[in-house]
Amino acid sequence: MQMDTVRFKLEELRLVSGEDQRDLQILFAQSKNDGNFSAKQRKLFFAHGGILVVVRDVTEHSVIVGMASLLVLHSLVKSGGYIGHVCVERSVRRNGIASDLLIHLVARAKGLGLSDVRLTCNASNPGTNALYQGLGFEPAGKSSNRYKIVF
Ligand SMILES: CC(C)(COP(=O)(O)OP(=O)(O)OC[C@H]1O[C@@H](n2cnc3c(N)ncnc32)[C@H](O)[C@@H]1OP(=O)(O)O)[C@@H](O)C(=O)NCCC(=O)NCCS
Repeated sequence: MQMDTVRFKLEELRLVSGEDQRDLQILFAQSKNDGNFSAKQRKLFFAHGGILVVVRDVTEHSVIVGMASLLVLHSLVKSGGYIGHVCVERSVRRNGIASDLLIHLVARAKGLGLSDVRLTCNASNPGTNALYQGLGFEPAGKSSNRYKIVF
């Protein structure tokens, strides 16, 4: 399904306000991610080129209902991207939100000139295979929960 771009707005966050922090923590908990998205950690994340993209529901006071992040990793010979923390609020799943978040981050990774973008799926969600493969990700390595797109 295509995301309703009147109701849902995609946005890259450069700063995280107190309200956004609360929304992100709720999403973290729903996706069983550990950790506190602390101010110190955010500073490190953004300082090292991390990209955080969210989707807001404008009919619900612009609460954040979806999130995903892109880390940029450099070695001596190439730079790659790593997508993580893909999560959508339960009540609005199957509206194309994760797809739009991922399409945005893949385009950003390509625009940055990265050689590839990868992700590891830790959740035991059978829908994620269809989600990632539908967006052009292919299996990376022997493990069935790793995916990549090579540019
Ligand atoms: C996985 C998750 C991010 C999907 O978010 P979403 O916004 O509902 O995904 P989309 O609407 O973009 O789904 C796109 C396609 O992926 C597949 N898909 C997504 N969720 C699915 C599910 N639960 N069951 C079967 N297929 C699913 C479908 O093919 C879907 O297309 P369709 O709705 O037209 O059939 C969301 O369920 C979630 O946050 N889960 C908990 C956290 C998690 O598992 N994160 C992924 C870590 S690897």
